[in-house]
Amino acid sequence: MTLAEVLRGATDYLAGRGIDTARVDAELLLARALGLTRIELYTLHDRPLTEPERAAARALVQRRGRREPLAYVLGDWDFRKLTLKTDARALVPRPETEVVVERCLALLVDVDAPRVVDVGTGSGAIALALKHERPDADVTATDSSADALALARENAEANGLDVRLLAGDLLAGLDGTFDLVVSNPPYVDAAELAGLQPELSFEPRAALVDEGQTARLAADARAVLDGWLVLEVHENRAAVVAEELSSFGYSAISIRLDLAGRERAVEAQWAATRASSGP
Ligand SMILES: C[S@@+](CC[C@H](N)C(=O)[O-])C[C@H]1O[C@@H](n2cnc3c(N)ncnc32)[C@H](O)[C@@H]1O
Repeated sequence: MTLAEVLRGATDYLAGRGIDTARVDAELLLARALGLTRIELYTLHDRPLTEPERAAARALVQRRGRREPLAYVLGDWDFRKLTLKTDARALVPRPETEVVVERCLALLVDVDAPRVVDVGTGSGAIALALKHERPDADVTATDSSADALALARENAEANGLDVRLLAGDLLAGLDGTFDLVVSNPPYVDAAELAGLQPELSFEPRAALVDEGQTARLAADARAVLDGWLVLEVHENRAAVVAEELSSFGYSAISIRLDLAGRERAVEAQWAATRASSGP
């Protein structure tokens, strides 16, 4: 069979398993299995595949056909300007989280050597992207999952980025004051999970299911903040979270949209002076 025939077969197979992005997934998986670029899949379209090549491609395509996330099957994923290792130890970094990083960078633009903490770092995506794009930042990343922190450490080392990794609940164990607390906390309702796409069942439940972390973090962050809190939120909960931040005494609260126009981030300011002089 030629490359073009295998690509067509893989696309049909993935489409038959309900994958909307069957063609692009098949291209990425084939290219990875064969050590080719996506362009080469087309320039070499009539090249016959050897049996070992077909077996390698089949193994990846079958995993994807079982609805394992593409990022886990490929084993890495691009997030902003970084390529991160991705596997079942942590959530796959999402495009909407890139917008959260964008907001953090904008809020820190006038702050020299900002102190930053990324709470629930997972693969390390937010913390590492911030350190990469603001090398003068002092970045700490926390997670309650030892598996996630191990993956974040591997990603930090692979990308040569120096971030402090801390195991624990939310902000536990942190010292001093931060210019930015950022988090993409778990925010899926447990009841909602079963109705969502099958790929989510491969990701850690602790990374997905909302157990009140957002409200707890918003309350606790006031003790360590002199600057901005940026939270990724469920698209239907931005207004509720904004209301909560207001009730906690935060100021300059605003809701931010992702690239698809959904309300996916809430940001707010907390000035340490207010904590000592306020009611
Ligand atoms: C939605 S994932 C976000 C991962 C990564 N920041 C990203 O955006 O791709 C949430 C992360 O928070 C961690 N987590 C959940 N509850 C936590 C808690 N109480 N304290 C610290 N981390 C927590 C999970 O282990 C998971 O890695």
